[in-house]
Amino acid sequence: MPPTKSPVDRDAVIETFAAHLSRPKVEFYQRYGFDLVMGKREGIFFEDLDGRRLINAHCNGGVFNMGHRHPALVSALKQALDSLDIGNHHLISTYRAQLAQRLTASIPGDIDHLVFASSGGEAIDMAIKMARGFTQRPRILSAQGGYHGHTGLAMATGDPRYRDPFGSSIPGFQQIPFLDLDALEQALDSSVAAVILETIPATLGIVVPTAVYLQGVRRLCDQYGCLLILDEIQSGLGRTGKMWAFEHFGVSPDIMVTGKGLSGGLYPIAATCFRGSMERLFEADPFVHISTFGGAELGCVVSLALLDILESTGFLQQVTQTGEQLNAALSGFASQYGEVLVGIRQLGMMIGLVFARPGLGVLFSRILLDHGIFAVYSNNDKCVTQFLLPLIIQPHEVQDVLERLRLSLEVIQQPEMREVAALIETL
Ligand SMILES: Cc1ncc(COP(=O)(O)O)c(C=O)c1O
Repeated sequence: MPPTKSPVDRDAVIETFAAHLSRPKVEFYQRYGFDLVMGKREGIFFEDLDGRRLINAHCNGGVFNMGHRHPALVSALKQALDSLDIGNHHLISTYRAQLAQRLTASIPGDIDHLVFASSGGEAIDMAIKMARGFTQRPRILSAQGGYHGHTGLAMATGDPRYRDPFGSSIPGFQQIPFLDLDALEQALDSSVAAVILETIPATLGIVVPTAVYLQGVRRLCDQYGCLLILDEIQSGLGRTGKMWAFEHFGVSPDIMVTGKGLSGGLYPIAATCFRGSMERLFEADPFVHISTFGGAELGCVVSLALLDILESTGFLQQVTQTGEQLNAALSGFASQYGEVLVGIRQLGMMIGLVFARPGLGVLFSRILLDHGIFAVYSNNDKCVTQFLLPLIIQPHEVQDVLERLRLSLEVIQQPEMREVAALIETL
């Protein structure tokens, strides 16, 4: 471990965290046995400071798609540190230009511009600002239970429970049920600037849409003259076996947002990608939107190295194959343990394990932890355990994961676990 100032003792770290960051979080983690303190990390593993080694099947929603500290990414960042810093966001930048060119080239269709941000929420805010500015319309439609971030406009797209504690809502935002084209059509009119969706809503429980649905959304957006914003912050950058999840569905967004995995787990960076025709928004005043840390040059270098990996021969095919290997085993588990594990939601390596009741989903995260796997449930549908393994996992490691999963399912199917699940639901 790199040197830290005191405290270095695990319990002392937890107490300092509680005292100066969040006691309610610490109490929550302790209640569920999730009071982990990240120590060493490498590849698909990270350690708790107590020495416990865990397989990361959470990956921070895609941040660790390449595992922890991928050698090529670490080396790119180390090398960059010899000559670069974050750069000056006001000036023209070699690294921002290169990354913008490569990233937009990876998006099928005519998206060829982007604006960098330092977080997903900031990039979503930008997407909404652009949609409103470009269409000169005020309203934004989003999915109930979807999640686009905790910042201003991103938060306004989300569920009331994430907004209400912070005062009155921003007007113009409306949520509609995901997968319901009739509800969408009823909400649409000529005042809607954009419909924003995660291509595969993760916080809602890894809900994989049908092509009919997404194509229907695209058709309705065209019919009502509004834009389609797709949030690929979790589903993009190879997670589903294609570079972007929307490629599976035969649709193209007008604006696409990426983040999380773009950082390589090493340097925060996100981007709002759009067509050149929308650039006119910035003509009158090119400085109408700026971000000090957005597209920091060190981050660009890491993202460029990340694209090298994603675009290397066979990488995405390997993700698809690993997804198939997982699917074959998971389908077997779903029939063997069908009383508790009632469904598998999956596209490539974006996976949700659906349990019969919310308490079981929460409990399963804990049982997995006891079996050396770190995974969490979907906050807006606790029946679902999100299962996002690093994309770089090797076949023999997948076998190990599957054996741990099987043992965990053996535990959760025991009758007394239903009582525990019921108890959890009352907490
Ligand atoms: C789908 C999706 N969109 C947006 C965000 C917000 O990203 P950030 O936390 O980097 O602001 C998240 C974060 O979890 C996310 O999962």
